[in-house]
Amino acid sequence: MDSLIMAVHILVASFWIGGMLFMVLALSPYVRKLPEDVSVKAYQEVGKRYSFWGTVVGLPLLFLTGLYNMNTMGVSFSDLLGWKNQYATTLHHKIHLFILTVILAVVHDFYVGPRSHLSKKFKVSARIIGVLNLVLGIFIIYFAAKLRMGG
Ligand code: HEM
Repeated sequence: MDSLIMAVHILVASFWIGGMLFMVLALSPYVRKLPEDVSVKAYQEVGKRYSFWGTVVGLPLLFLTGLYNMNTMGVSFSDLLGWKNQYATTLHHKIHLFILTVILAVVHDFYVGPRSHLSKKFKVSARIIGVLNLVLGIFIIYFAAKLRMGG
């Protein structure tokens, strides 16, 4: 069971980070060359689906499976709050970044993203927040790798 939950955690993490990398490296360079009205529509349609699977389904699933992993690894919330050891400290940082990721994803998907056709300000903000969340995701992967090495 522990391995299965960890596999789900890694699968969802792959989708979350992989989806953002795909958007930035593969989809965006093409969509940006399309006429303005088509590109805005394409971003909104793709964004809506990615938002459902990534933000609405994926992030809560990462949190729940992450909690389960914590239990599997024998770490409690008081260990986290007490910065008990290097492992708990790294996990503490990882969870802070995760909270920031959730806030940015919600602002991106439910506020600036749906308004990106209204003004350049919203469009640029959506792009900046999207890239910022990719960078945060890469840091989270780094912390996950550190945990694997013991913290
Ligand atoms: C965007 C969010 C997240 C991503 C991308 C992510 C990614 C990963 C990955 C790739 C691993 C596998 C590392 C390994 O081989 O062990 C992992 C492990 C783990 N994750 Fe997450 N995670 C996220 C959120 C969370 C959250 C919110 C928690 C806690 C509530 C959490 C707790 C853990 C724990 C305890 C492990 C086991 C680490 C170990 O091997 O000791 N993760 N995570």
